[in-house]
Amino acid sequence: MNASAKNLAALLPPSFTLGVATSAFQIEGALDEDGRGPSGWDVFAAKPGSIVEDQSPAVSCDHYHRMPQDVALMKELGIDSYRFSLSWSRIQPGGSGPVNPAGLDFYDRLIDLLLANGISPMATLYHWDTPLPLDEAGGWMNRDTAYRLGEFAAIAAAAYGDRVARWVTVNEPATVTTNGYALGIHAPGEALMLKALPSVHHQLLGHGLSLQALRAAKVAGEVGITNVYSPMVPASSNPLDKVSAGLMDTAQNRLYADPVLVGKYPDMIRAATLFSSAFSPSSEDMELISQPLDFYGLNYYMPTRVGSGPGDGTVPEGMAEAMGDDLSGTPGAPFHIATFPDTETTAYGWPIKPEYMSVALAEMAERYPDLPPVYITEGGASFEDVLVRDDASNSTIIPDERRLRFLADHIGTAVQSTSPGGAAESIDLRGYYVWSLMDNFEWSGGYNQQFGLVHVDFDTQVRTPKASFYWLQELLAARHQGAGPGGHSAAGAGAPAPGSDAERPHPVG
Ligand code: BGC
Repeated sequence: MNASAKNLAALLPPSFTLGVATSAFQIEGALDEDGRGPSGWDVFAAKPGSIVEDQSPAVSCDHYHRMPQDVALMKELGIDSYRFSLSWSRIQPGGSGPVNPAGLDFYDRLIDLLLANGISPMATLYHWDTPLPLDEAGGWMNRDTAYRLGEFAAIAAAAYGDRVARWVTVNEPATVTTNGYALGIHAPGEALMLKALPSVHHQLLGHGLSLQALRAAKVAGEVGITNVYSPMVPASSNPLDKVSAGLMDTAQNRLYADPVLVGKYPDMIRAATLFSSAFSPSSEDMELISQPLDFYGLNYYMPTRVGSGPGDGTVPEGMAEAMGDDLSGTPGAPFHIATFPDTETTAYGWPIKPEYMSVALAEMAERYPDLPPVYITEGGASFEDVLVRDDASNSTIIPDERRLRFLADHIGTAVQSTSPGGAAESIDLRGYYVWSLMDNFEWSGGYNQQFGLVHVDFDTQVRTPKASFYWLQELLAARHQGAGPGGHSAAGAGAPAPGSDAERPHPVG
């Protein structure tokens, strides 16, 4: 038994959900099949220069044709829950109007297969792949898109509402606005900078309308939203750096969390937009956006170090792809992203700082005293994996110890900081989903950034579990063998809460 898996298993509350996450556009391929309509991402990705080495999402992991094999991998892994997204363009090809029965059927089969294997489904309604006709009509700059998402939520609720355990309305609206509408490095490729603000409000309104539709349909599962959270760390004690970090915190964190959790936009945003007629949310909108949630989804990958002014023009290695060159070195830029000194980074150049997981949770707890139960809906790291031929076992080994350590440290920190005496002890942390089940189409990073527990050979579609997969498998098995708090008891303190994901039967070993 791997020591880190055993130690971590002992820390996990009995009903803690461990899962893996993916999204439709990143894994499915089959973009032109069975009546799927085009999405804005199909068009963006086809533009030369949008994706690293102009790689294509057309096939990706071919999950659309290999779904049963991928669910079998999840079963072998032993996870409690699988977070996936519904491709809006597959289910409702025009983004409005008629539904596509073949598209509906695909997720119907996926959900049934998950349940048959004891894996609880978490479905995300919107993970960035807007149907093309909606993007052509302005995408999230157009208020109408919010109503269309609400309508799509009603379609999904009618089809799957009896079986989905948890619904995420919108995934990371901050990334859609920043990368898609402000910087233009994601679909739909708009570089509107501050003029992108309406896309924030319309996504949040889309969240509110979806929530309303899911509740009106009386779905059996819980409903929530997923926001990314990155603690903003001033580059120095210089007051200007502190102000810059505060600005980034408002623009990337509070702008998306405050409206949902306290029903208003941050004062700084309201002051800055006082004279802009393009952004004047009504109280009705704010009520929709701040309806109570069953859970709050938080994606944590890294903290961000922020300095004032344009910086010296050097974008931290690998960061350009992820964050856009425009944030650093642009003459006149009000602030820049700086590197953390002496810090290990992922292949993307993202700083590896598990201790800031605790900071993120503590800041959330302090800002939002009425926070509902929290799931970490994504966390993970890209590394360049090395395939090693093992003649003894006649198999391929992928020793991704760094990813395994990343996950162990982040899950451990999340659990400890929300336990009694921890920095975020008031938070009811319910689970952690690893990004990602398998290597996939990492947006503008293409296939060069690999986050998977399972390696995918994109030429042959052969899937090979990495060391991190076997580590997570051990963690899950150890927990179900009773290594969690409460020891070996079948009932009482050590038993999973009734109805929790952890209560489901699991394969061991
Ligand atoms: C997104 C995923 C993405 C991951 C790694 C998250 O922001 O939700 O789609 O692949 O980060 O970049």
